[in-house]
Amino acid sequence: MNHFLDIHTTDPDALRAMIDQARAMKQARADRPKGAPDDDQPLAGRMVALIFEKPSTRTRVSFDVGVRQMGGQTMVLSGADMQLGHGETIADTARVLSRYVDMIMMRTFEEATVQEMAECASVPVINGLTNRTHPCQIMADVMTYEEHRGPIRGKKVVWSGDGNNVCASFLHGAGQFGFDLTFTGPQTLDPEREFVEFARSKGVSVEIERDPAKAVRDADLVVTDTWVSMHDSQSARERRHNQLRPYQVNDDLMALAKPDALFMHCLPAHRDEEVTSKVMDGPHSVVFDEAENRLHAQKAVMRWCLGV
Ligand code: CP
Ligand code: NVA
Repeated sequence: MNHFLDIHTTDPDALRAMIDQARAMKQARADRPKGAPDDDQPLAGRMVALIFEKPSTRTRVSFDVGVRQMGGQTMVLSGADMQLGHGETIADTARVLSRYVDMIMMRTFEEATVQEMAECASVPVINGLTNRTHPCQIMADVMTYEEHRGPIRGKKVVWSGDGNNVCASFLHGAGQFGFDLTFTGPQTLDPEREFVEFARSKGVSVEIERDPAKAVRDADLVVTDTWVSMHDSQSARERRHNQLRPYQVNDDLMALAKPDALFMHCLPAHRDEEVTSKVMDGPHSVVFDEAENRLHAQKAVMRWCLGV
């Protein structure tokens, strides 16, 4: 049994094997007649709890569909409707759920919550986003890059904007998959040092460049995300927008990257804020492949967790 809590705490060979399996499963589905069930039903007879303490479209639907495609069943739970939201401890919730279900995916606020869930559960626990990281997203992003451009190792990824939870997992990904990362954004929104140091400790280059035009030079991949995350206070909205406006990904910025550079965004996007609609819908953008690949990548993550 394996927990999937973060990219940096998961063995790099296991991460690579998951990406390869995700691609194989995606291909196998594409080769089947539309509507035909998969031959492979590795989750048959398994029940998976999907717990959400924050909103979600992609994570909710892709996990639910992924489990069903593999023959398993799901229950989608809102944290607020559970006793968890009314004072029951995480530890007790983990012990109880472990008596009913075979795996738990959780989206929550504090990183400590998902960690405690994993410590106390006797079934695998998957991190479906916390305030600090979003590991499932990066699995889909690496898969998407490689589908379009081949191995990501040695490539230059530029993160433009807020050094948030998705940026943190990108830094973990840089270390584990061997790509370089340049962060461009205001100093007050830099990624935490711990994430930068992890990537550097694995021998990849991490640069912090305040000038977005300089940062994107020679970029193979440009990535951004919302300027205000779900855990950020709405009162900071205007200040963040003012600080982050120079880091918008638009045609002028993309023109400074490599001609075949890709653009990614985990979505949901705020069109014409962190990215223009022209870039979102333009030739560099692979955002909808990225969203689709959440499904395939997470199917591989779940198989690894259960060892099936
Ligand atoms: N990218 C992502 O996790 O999207 P949702 O918030 O819709 O799940
Ligand atoms: N950084 C965003 C990602 C959403 C998928 C958030 O945490 O709200």
